[in-house]
Amino acid sequence: MALYFIIGYMGSGKSTVAKKMATLLNYQLIDLDTYIENEQQQTIAELFESAGEKEFRAIEHGSLKKLMSSKNTIIACGGGTPCYFNNVELMNLHGITIYIQMETEALVKRLINANSKRPLIANKSEAELRIFINEQLKVRAPFYERAHYIVNGINLNAKELIAIANK
Ligand code: S3P
Repeated sequence: MALYFIIGYMGSGKSTVAKKMATLLNYQLIDLDTYIENEQQQTIAELFESAGEKEFRAIEHGSLKKLMSSKNTIIACGGGTPCYFNNVELMNLHGITIYIQMETEALVKRLINANSKRPLIANKSEAELRIFINEQLKVRAPFYERAHYIVNGINLNAKELIAIANK
């Protein structure tokens, strides 16, 4: 009857891990960004544009709270989810949190061609992206590191996830 939250920076592979876990456990899979988009009838980029980041964070917090009593569910969070309000405490209290850790350089490589749907990094050059990720990781890492489990996003193996799922 568990609830798992997959957290980590944009591009760290949260959705892939969440899918793997959901398949392994035969659990329901929820992508928080998609859930928000369906609720708000707007894409994340449109929400940032129309409401601004501050309002987006409030909406994200509200959506997350609605999902806290989900059972047998894996929730892939947005990269910023654990870093606002008391979101990380809430997740730790109601479920099991897994941080997918990845170094800046790997994130730069993965995000340079995957920034069009991500308003925070849209239109950044590779050099700008590197600086941005470095700076943001300094702020975000203390939140991410409060997760129950930390796994390396590079060469992540299914065995590690199975071990966590079996605990
Ligand atoms: C964000 C990450 C995005 C999305 C929004 C903000 C962030 O999710 O929630 O663009 O602050 O890191 P992904 O991590 O799934 O890209």
